[in-house]
Amino acid sequence: MIKRLIVGLSISAACFGASIDNGANLFDGTKSFENGAVACVACHNVNSSAVISGGTLAMDLTSMGGAMEYPLSAVENMSSPVMQEAYKGKPLTKEEIADLDAFVMDAANNPGSAGGDNFVMMGVAGAVIAFIILSLLGNGRKKESVNQELYDRQQVNQTQSSQWRDA
Ligand code: HEC
Repeated sequence: MIKRLIVGLSISAACFGASIDNGANLFDGTKSFENGAVACVACHNVNSSAVISGGTLAMDLTSMGGAMEYPLSAVENMSSPVMQEAYKGKPLTKEEIADLDAFVMDAANNPGSAGGDNFVMMGVAGAVIAFIILSLLGNGRKKESVNQELYDRQQVNQTQSSQWRDA
């Protein structure tokens, strides 16, 4: 019984040990890496509203969750010479790698996560409400449009010119 509890606790610790938020902060440089490495956002993008848009030098990492641990574990394991150069002598810690991985995996599973969708919906709702208020205010202030005025004037001109023609 106690054994099962301990196993359960350690499994949940493994699952929740890595911090998505911390990964996001490391990714976009809000938080510095322990060994002073440059933030990933300089070259990579991840599709998540938790971070600012990233660079386009290298591929979008959104779908890389879970597959980043190996290349990030050591400079020799990075396939890109550009990355090797950037991270030479500034290794990422195990925790940093796990957090980055957790963040990227979360971003892949929840596109536009961290309230991004709500933010857009709030904007749309605000625009609709503003539109309704403005049209209510506009109503009754002017019965005829400017176009109507121009149209009427043109009608008169046409009548006049046809009168001249007939004369
Ligand atoms: C100086 C630019 C630069 C920085 C900073 C950078 N990368 Fe990269 N990364 C690259 C390039 C270039 C590639 C090669 C792939 C490509 O051409 O898109 C790459 C490839 C990768 C790959 C593919 C795996 C592999 O090695 O083949 C992963 C995963 C990755 N980067 C993760 C990261 C993470 C996480 C960070 C931050 C800790 C980071 N990168 C920072 C430039 C960079």
